[in-house]
Amino acid sequence: MKPAILVARAIFPQTLARLAEHFELETNQDDLIFTPQELVAKLHGKQGLLCTGSARIDAQLLAQTPRLKMVANMAVGYDNIDLAACTQFQVMASNTPDVLNQTTADFAWALLMATARRITEAEHYLRAGKWDKWSYDAFLGADLHGATLGILGMGRIGQAIARRSMGFDMQVLYHNRSRLSPEQESYANNAQYVSKQELLSRADHLILILPYSAATHHAIGAAELAMLRPSATLVNVARGGIVDDAALIAALRQNKIAAAGLDVFEGEPNLNPDFLTLKNVVLTPHIASASAATRRAMANCAADNLIAGLTHQRPPHLLNPEASS
Ligand code: GLV
Ligand code: GLV
Repeated sequence: MKPAILVARAIFPQTLARLAEHFELETNQDDLIFTPQELVAKLHGKQGLLCTGSARIDAQLLAQTPRLKMVANMAVGYDNIDLAACTQFQVMASNTPDVLNQTTADFAWALLMATARRITEAEHYLRAGKWDKWSYDAFLGADLHGATLGILGMGRIGQAIARRSMGFDMQVLYHNRSRLSPEQESYANNAQYVSKQELLSRADHLILILPYSAATHHAIGAAELAMLRPSATLVNVARGGIVDDAALIAALRQNKIAAAGLDVFEGEPNLNPDFLTLKNVVLTPHIASASAATRRAMANCAADNLIAGLTHQRPPHLLNPEASS
């Protein structure tokens, strides 16, 4: 008999077809968001789960799902999964790294450019029928070329973002838990490692791309925002919670920084409504990895992990090898 799995969110039909070769599937193509209790009920008798960041996998859930052996997250970030609890319950967990690096780096640039050059604000003006003449000082933004790009979090996506700055003749500064190798720094447009404080005070444009954890909660709060230049652009393509959104709204309102481009929010999809009252923000609904090719690759990657894990092979992106022994 094939093992039973739950695919907790809607996904490409091709991915479901592939999973069906190996598993009995319970699917959710209506894409309902399950409460924790509903998720436990749906997981009854299931050995595997394919989920996204909307599913919280913690000890409370795992204590009620004794047959569960593997959780495959369709995301590179896995802050929705308590890895220690998974290991304690001998449940393997996996993510989808690498396949989204270049697409996410592209999007960080799209968001930075839209924010620094005020593209969405200008488009709203045009669509509202307010454009009646060209003016020398309409929508003046900040240049990217020749500017100093700061990157907080210099993993594989951060390095891909940095590399793209070569064409803009930018100087790259970064801060990270650990310093990159000289080879990695050279790949990343000769990025220079600096303290967080120096990064904040010197960046013309600051991109956040670090994982979310208790240690990075509100890594950018009121004190950090105060260190940024009044002309600075802030871009968050990492996770909600890395920025203190209330502090950011206050800084944007008082023009303590110029503008912010945000793809992620505290409490998303319910963002702080004050963001909607600000002109100096570009807001997108967590779509940095959303190219057609990359979302397919992420779905395939999550499926590959689940198929391996439940057929006695090592999942290619196993996060807690201790759980598979
Ligand atoms: C993916 O990261 C999600 O939030 O569902
Ligand atoms: C998306 O946010 C991801 O972590 O893949």
